Amino acid sequence: PKIDILNGPNLNLLGQRQPEIYGHEKLDDVARDCTALGAELGLETLLRQSNHEGELVEWIQEARQASAGIILNAGAYTHTSIAILDALNTFDGPVIELHISNVHAREGFRHHSYISARATGVIAGFGTEGYLLALRRMATLVL
Ligand code: DQA
Repeated sequence: PKIDILNGPNLNLLGQRQPEIYGHEKLDDVARDCTALGAELGLETLLRQSNHEGELVEWIQEARQASAGIILNAGAYTHTSIAILDALNTFDGPVIELHISNVHAREGFRHHSYISARATGVIAGFGTEGYLLALRRMATLVL
């Protein structure tokens, strides 16, 4: 089965952006580690990133046909996007909401997530290792 790992705005700058919060690993490193763990688990992973809300909506719509599950770090759209929630509600498989940082230990505006209402579960605060934790959980959900 194929798993989409979708990333929202500013995550292209992972490793350079506020490393005290998000760490030093780049998104390419995360993609490489997910591919390797996916192969071990029997999952094909496709990691993508966009700074555009509509593009994330389109990728979620594509996943309806193409993917068994979605791991989503929607970045700041987590806290603003009803459109992304609506798109997720058209998808039947498991959705894991992911945040690198512990959003609940940060500013109040990061405490609410539109995505949590649809998420099978949420991983936050474990750095980029969260992607691997999400993938392991995804394996038990779809295999
Ligand atoms: C984030 C947390 C969001 O609040 C923030 O806007 C991000 C990244 C995280 O991975 O910790 O861009 O989703």
